[in-house]
Amino acid sequence: MTLIEMKKISKHFPPQIIALENVDFTAEPGEIHCLLGENGAGKTTLMNILYGLYKADTGTIKFEDTLVDINSPRDAIDLKIGMVHQHFRLVKRHTVAENIALGLKCNNALFPLPEVKALIKQVTERYGLSVDPDAYIWELSVGEQQRVEIIKVLCRDIKVLILDEPTSILTPQETETLFNALQLMKQEGIAIIFITHKLDEVMTFSDKVTVLRKGKNVDTVETTAVDKRSLAKLMVGRDVLFRVEKKEACPVEPVLEISDLSALNDSGLKALNGLSLTVCGGEILGVAGVSGNGQRELVEIITGLRKKNGGLVKISGVDVSGLKPGKIAENGVAHIPEDRIHRGSVPDMRVLDNLMLRDYKQYSKGIMLDAETMRTQSNMMVKEYNVDTPSLETPIKLLSGGNIQKVILARELHGSPSLIIASHPTYGLDVGATEQIRNTLLGQRDRGAGVLLISEDLDEIMELSDRVVVIYEGRIMGEVTAETDVSEIGLLMSGGTQ
Ligand SMILES: Nc1ncnc2c1ncn2[C@@H]1O[C@H](COP(=O)(O)OP(=O)(O)O)[C@@H](O)[C@H]1O
Ligand SMILES: [Mg+2]
Repeated sequence: MTLIEMKKISKHFPPQIIALENVDFTAEPGEIHCLLGENGAGKTTLMNILYGLYKADTGTIKFEDTLVDINSPRDAIDLKIGMVHQHFRLVKRHTVAENIALGLKCNNALFPLPEVKALIKQVTERYGLSVDPDAYIWELSVGEQQRVEIIKVLCRDIKVLILDEPTSILTPQETETLFNALQLMKQEGIAIIFITHKLDEVMTFSDKVTVLRKGKNVDTVETTAVDKRSLAKLMVGRDVLFRVEKKEACPVEPVLEISDLSALNDSGLKALNGLSLTVCGGEILGVAGVSGNGQRELVEIITGLRKKNGGLVKISGVDVSGLKPGKIAENGVAHIPEDRIHRGSVPDMRVLDNLMLRDYKQYSKGIMLDAETMRTQSNMMVKEYNVDTPSLETPIKLLSGGNIQKVILARELHGSPSLIIASHPTYGLDVGATEQIRNTLLGQRDRGAGVLLISEDLDEIMELSDRVVVIYEGRIMGEVTAETDVSEIGLLMSGGTQ
């Protein structure tokens, strides 16, 4: 008996996106099956179809060898299919137990809370996923919130668990806890469908992997029959070099000096608490940490978007307190922001305008802009950064995440900045775009720029950085090197001391 058999599934989104084309996918009880693919390959769409959120244009789904019609998540839940989405759907003002009770609700009647709590206790003990049922969601870290989502699904009796890129927000310890829980579920015969674009994860713990590329099935293979390199090739369609080629750093004088910085977050709570660090020209300083520990406020202060409460920020030796973002940018600071859609670009504007946002003053001819020079310049930037866009006139919002990020890099790095602030520069991007962006940052370093790299992806931090510091609750907990054990870094990331 096959637990799930999806056959010839096609789905298009009007007007012209073909998200899936004749895709086949099967899952068996007790297997961990990774669904691997670059950004936009169609992974989420395929699983949203299995979970009843989207209706396929064509194709069939069999559950335990019987044809089924899954028209809503309710239908999927009735078939004992559970899904944990990439974006959580918890009610922040409610407690863990109340949220789980909402998920279990049937016929509009809520489960009594004591019963729900007993159920939570049972599930958490069985899978080693601890959580306080009385905690409010807003009190929890994103990793803990995800755990609540998983527990919510496990409180129902399930046969299939779909996880959509669950590890992108977890610390190494949290990832390990999740993997251990998945092993237990597997032993109980649950089929686990694990969406990811991380090859290491596929290799470490999956039994099978199905690769999607541009909405098509590339292959389904036993994990033991492949290696990272061959998987990457299946996924991207070309050879990928894994190690970024990295020369020794030659740091020179400091381009960013921060001492004893303090600041509040938007809710008026302490976000930075006596933070100090230095970045020299010609080096990449990585800041590791779980998001929400002051990274955003730190970046906003350096780039002039937020006021500090105390301490000193010097860029190339100059105190930048009170300078506007535009002035700071003119002083040679490039900013690759965490929110590439809203802060990094203007979604409705053309690729051309987005490329010129930073330097347009340079192209003014009286009150007019020199359209021709701008076009020539933009064309060069698109070529140099390998941006895949139908034209310069295309609104940037129609490009994929990787191409939007390339436009931002092209714009920000044009004019050879001395300091580059890069927040999660490859977050959510596929291996092809990731490789290009990492090489670009290294190239900037070799040219002599200082790079402050903020990322939750420890592999990325360790691979790119020349030095690494760990941030926790608005303070630097310590400096580590490429040789430091991940568990030690994990400890610092969760507030332990060296
Ligand atoms: N609701 C939607 N409306 C329009 N296009 C969509 C929608 N959902 C996904 N897409 C498009 O379908 C393609 C596949 O997306 P998705 O399944 O999210 O990929 P993945 O999860 O592999 O990154 C992408 O081009 C995406 O932009
Ligand atoms: Mg997805």
